[in-house]
Amino acid sequence: MITLGIESSCDETGLALYCTDNGLLAHALFSQVDLHALYGGVVPELASRDHVKRLVPLTRQVCHSASITLSEIDAVAYTQGPGLAGALLTGAMMARGLAWALQLPALGVHHLEGHLLAPMLETPAPCFPFLCLLVSGGHTQLVAVAGLGQYQLLGESIDDAAGEAFDKTAKMLGLGYPGGPALAALAEKGDASAVDLPRPMMNRNTLDFSFSGLKTAAITRYKQFSGNAEQESQFIADLAASFQQAVVDVLIGKSSKALQRTGLQTLVISGGVSANSQLRKSADELLGADVRVFYPRLEFCTDNGAMIALAGAKRLLRGEKSDLSVSVKPRWPLESLT
Ligand code: KG4
Ligand code: ZN
Repeated sequence: MITLGIESSCDETGLALYCTDNGLLAHALFSQVDLHALYGGVVPELASRDHVKRLVPLTRQVCHSASITLSEIDAVAYTQGPGLAGALLTGAMMARGLAWALQLPALGVHHLEGHLLAPMLETPAPCFPFLCLLVSGGHTQLVAVAGLGQYQLLGESIDDAAGEAFDKTAKMLGLGYPGGPALAALAEKGDASAVDLPRPMMNRNTLDFSFSGLKTAAITRYKQFSGNAEQESQFIADLAASFQQAVVDVLIGKSSKALQRTGLQTLVISGGVSANSQLRKSADELLGADVRVFYPRLEFCTDNGAMIALAGAKRLLRGEKSDLSVSVKPRWPLESLT
């Protein structure tokens, strides 16, 4: 079965073709980062308009890369939520329109389920059950995953998501938008022990996270700095490294606690922040030989169509499909799938 996957929940248009026999056949992505950088954040109306422009050419592109025609597609999966309503609608309309014209089943997919299953596009792939640390721009969650659609939320951020904290701190340090990758790159040049920053909620019994205070602490230290320009650039690198290490320590500390509590021995780390090399290094080093850690390949950490095609294919195989209405769910808790 060949599934066309469509992702349009935020500022990336992602298309992919996934075959249940032969794996991923093709994928294509257009990132709107340059469009929104000017405004320092995603402008929803611009995002929707740009998705409309990209959806058809990217569909043609993936078909061309996979050397198939539209008539060879068996089903369409699209991100139904959570995300920006207008942006979601563009992908949903495209999916429903194609499915109607080609007389195919179509299925709305949960964006976070896509992230959570994305490492299953790799070889070796993780097997159920596993613990998922889902770290994106909008979410930071620890989820016990018993099987497809069986998700128990163990903890989540009570304020900023990890990616959001990276982005906001980076913005204050003048690193542009989205600042997560830029802050991570700068951190390579800094000393992670140079600036003493808190590890919020690290030693509390809960598996919830809080990153807003850490972000404020980093920004306060930046404002307190006095020195010449050369010292300042080294200080910003040290601050970036120290901030990154604090986030990583909390993410790994809580994941380790969740593994102990659940007895699970497989950890999947996914979502945009799973691209962070310090997070990957610490997870591989600290979680011990008993724990197997899986990540998506770097290009599938952030939003993409491949994870939506995969998640959709798994559900379509079970006979699931959505009705003909075009409905999106800008707010849609992951646990409601269980
Ligand atoms: O999963 P994603 O593409 O979008 C959401 O579903 O939210 O994640 C985007 C987030 C942004 O906050 C971005 O700054 C962050 O992932 N990110 C990173 C890195 N690459 C992307 N954060 C830290 N280090 C990175 N290397
Ligand atoms: Zn995402």
